[in-house]
Amino acid sequence: MRSMTLKLPVKGSDMAWTDACGLDDIDAEDLIRFDHGGGTYAIYHAPDGTFHATDGLCTHEKMTLCNGLVDRDTIECPKHNGRFNYRTGAALRAPVCVDLKRYAMRVVGGRVEIKLGQRHAQETNGCRFAGGKGQGSVDHAAAVHAGTSGGGRAGGN
Ligand code: FES
Repeated sequence: MRSMTLKLPVKGSDMAWTDACGLDDIDAEDLIRFDHGGGTYAIYHAPDGTFHATDGLCTHEKMTLCNGLVDRDTIECPKHNGRFNYRTGAALRAPVCVDLKRYAMRVVGGRVEIKLGQRHAQETNGCRFAGGKGQGSVDHAAAVHAGTSGGGRAGGN
């Protein structure tokens, strides 16, 4: 009989951190698409130097956001011009009405890493404009600054 070792994630371990890009791979006030494990994510470089990550597909009709327009803290979907705050994930302008899921980020050794499998956004039930939550607040733990030296963990938990 064969024996099998089952590896379970250890809380607080680095197992969920995934290398996404280099610090210089995203211009300030821009984003890139990051595909991993069958998922599509968007990674943003905010004007203040922080990095943020959300699901990469619009919550309206699943258009990729990577060709969207970043303006300060917002991403505008290229298909119907719906708008989100990428720091909070909040849906800001119709036709989008469901928030984007967000992910923790960190900078290690000049690389930007995303923590997959653990979303920062609160789950929403249905459309935020139909009785959903309000604007939402910025979760500073979900952002990481480019100035963080190697090993910085601004986005971890
Ligand atoms: S697909 Fe994004 S606003 Fe419609």
